[in-house]
Amino acid sequence: MAGTERLICPGSALIEGGNGLRFSVLRDGKSVPAFAIRYDGCVYAYLNQCAHIPVELDWTEGEFFDSSGLYLICTTHGATYEPATGHCILGPCKGRQLTALGVYERDGSIYLTQSEIAND
Ligand code: FES
Repeated sequence: MAGTERLICPGSALIEGGNGLRFSVLRDGKSVPAFAIRYDGCVYAYLNQCAHIPVELDWTEGEFFDSSGLYLICTTHGATYEPATGHCILGPCKGRQLTALGVYERDGSIYLTQSEIAND
């Protein structure tokens, strides 16, 4: 599958409910910040843009989870998202969504799917 996937990081870099990994993807010719996290044993990735105002969620780099480790939280106004769906359940953008990216884990590594590969 060479050329059809992009390695993001080793699977061990993402700890359940722990810090996320920041990377970027290409959208409309621009490099856009994104992140990956591990939750309930699975890896998820989203654009790093709050559904309220398109600012990055993490004030401290890589800290996307709240103190419980169960929800993603935007540090600007506290929008709270379900890690597995990106659905906002609390805050000023309740009912909206983070933009999900295609990722998968294979042989101990985490990859972006072909459709998400950035050229930067
Ligand atoms: S910018 Fe994220 S909650 Fe307002």
